[in-house]
Amino acid sequence: METISLKDDQKEFSLPVVTGTENEKGIDISTLRSETGYITLDPGYGNTGSCQSSITYIDGEKGILRYRGIPIEELALNSNFIEVADLLIWGSLATREMGERFTNMLTDNALLHESLKHHFEGFPFDAHPMAMLSAMVNALSCYHPVLTKPHNPKEIEKAAAILISKIRTIAAFSYKMSRGEPFIYPKARYSYAENLLHMMFSLPHEHYEVHPEIKRAIDIILILHADHEQNCSTSTVRMVASSGANLFASISAGIAALWGPLHGGANQAVIEMLEKIHSGNLGVKKCIEMAKDKESGFRLMGFGHRVYKNFDPRAQILKELSAKVFDVLKHKDPLLDIARELEDVALRDPYFVERKLYPNIDFYSGIIFRAVGVPTNMYPVFFAIGRLPGWIAHWREATATNRLQIARPRQIYTGPAKQSYIPVDQRSHT
Ligand code: CMC
Repeated sequence: METISLKDDQKEFSLPVVTGTENEKGIDISTLRSETGYITLDPGYGNTGSCQSSITYIDGEKGILRYRGIPIEELALNSNFIEVADLLIWGSLATREMGERFTNMLTDNALLHESLKHHFEGFPFDAHPMAMLSAMVNALSCYHPVLTKPHNPKEIEKAAAILISKIRTIAAFSYKMSRGEPFIYPKARYSYAENLLHMMFSLPHEHYEVHPEIKRAIDIILILHADHEQNCSTSTVRMVASSGANLFASISAGIAALWGPLHGGANQAVIEMLEKIHSGNLGVKKCIEMAKDKESGFRLMGFGHRVYKNFDPRAQILKELSAKVFDVLKHKDPLLDIARELEDVALRDPYFVERKLYPNIDFYSGIIFRAVGVPTNMYPVFFAIGRLPGWIAHWREATATNRLQIARPRQIYTGPAKQSYIPVDQRSHT
């Protein structure tokens, strides 16, 4: 067995090395503290593997992303979101019969319980749809108590169908709430993406016709978002699951984590940044200068990634897809030109080149959503719908053991040393 040795003044310790399928190496430090008294310190967990996982492989240096071994480019070209969800959750591509069965289960579970629908009325009209989504997914657990901790395959399949189908209905209903429009129910014969757009954009008196290419584009976007190994929201799902919390609660926490602008909220932040440039409140040059200035607190949104130190393969696919969508819709958007200009300038700027900062998935997804008419605050919701199969797959992987181990990092304490309590009348603050 390969080992790594660690030495302090007194002793040498040997730590085992774990090797992954693609020869990734990790030092197993699970006995480090008990044997040496030391812990490791890694804020942001950039060098910490929290688990072994067989779901998704990323090589950030080479720009590779594979779900269950299959390259993302092949899935985007040949597969569909539901098949990808199946693949992520169960580990292999479904047969035709299995695929049809799961699709039928999604159709059967597309409606929300009538009393769950009333929860929407408790939100103000301008509530952010991510807040509603997180709350409603958690509330969904109350309607399916038997499935909150699904463990056998039948229960997992049912819980996955409920979540994947109903998250789309919840998302569309949140949008309808924000517009003050009546809810539109799903149609059984529609595909997944088509139903989402139908429930969002159809009106009782006016049917929204979805162009086949747009349906396909949204499906591809969902595929590209479906998993990304131990990102912030997925790690959150796994961490919450590690306490024994139920599937719905764990996913709800994942949605909350995804909402942040450094994660799934970045697609919304990118468009807001491009709109600022377009309105003349921020020039491209100024934007790049601000991103380089650490004091500004500003980052070039949609750029950089913890893992990719090369092109994000998802961004490459989306860049091409955006051109196709614009073509189909005969759409023109000055924000697309601004995005291309920003990308061009950034990719030639030594600051971005030296730090290996490239456009990520969020750089072009918003441009496509915008062309389709999706409002900005719904972009992270689409991200969440896409990421859901990955969260379910990780919840399943993390809980598929009889010995659940709670995730509980340690810390290096830097506060005051021991001191005595001072009664209030003896305190003075100088
Ligand atoms: N603009 C300007 N500088 C940046 C950016 C950026 N977008 N991203 C990273 N840097 C700098 C950073 O300041 C640091 O500089 P220095 O070495 O001088 O201190 C260096 O590049 C390394 O960055 P980092 O902060 O160590 O990178 P990280 O792995 O901690 O953060 C990130 C990754 C995605 C949070 C970050 O790149 C970022 O904030 N990007 C903008 C937000 C964004 O687009 N998020 C979506 C991520 S992809 C989809 C998803 O996973 O949700």
